Amino acid sequence: MTAAAWNAERARAIIDSHRSLRGALLPMLHALQEEFGYVDADAAPLLADSLNLSKAEVHGVITFYHEFRQSHPGRHVVRVCVAEACQARGSDKLVDHLKSKLGIDLGETRADGEFTLEAVYCLGNCALGPSALVDDQLMGRLTPARIDGALA
Ligand code: FES
Repeated sequence: MTAAAWNAERARAIIDSHRSLRGALLPMLHALQEEFGYVDADAAPLLADSLNLSKAEVHGVITFYHEFRQSHPGRHVVRVCVAEACQARGSDKLVDHLKSKLGIDLGETRADGEFTLEAVYCLGNCALGPSALVDDQLMGRLTPARIDGALA
């Protein structure tokens, strides 16, 4: 996963290019995360200024949606689906396995910066669960052995 280093000037340009959209805050946040891999705390005042919102309102939206990261992700991001259909197919076991293998909890990045482990809520691959995205590659029918293979 390659993301640009945080750059306020670039962030401002991204924000400006989305200003005319309806409900511009979410597209702006997605675009910022796409560019930098996360939404830097310094983006909140830029977004607030651009949309005439308070910083608290912007912060509230960033923290409400699980998909927005507030810190730089690791080199590899593993997102395990923990929604109902995947849970019924054993995603809990997969999450436990990954937590112990990577030594981190959901929402955390390993100290060496190699891996970030995240939960997601449905990847549209319910019939083939448990599902996960490993660096944006969708995988289904996952077992601990299969995910270990992908991580290797
Ligand atoms: S519930 Fe996991 S992909 Fe839909």
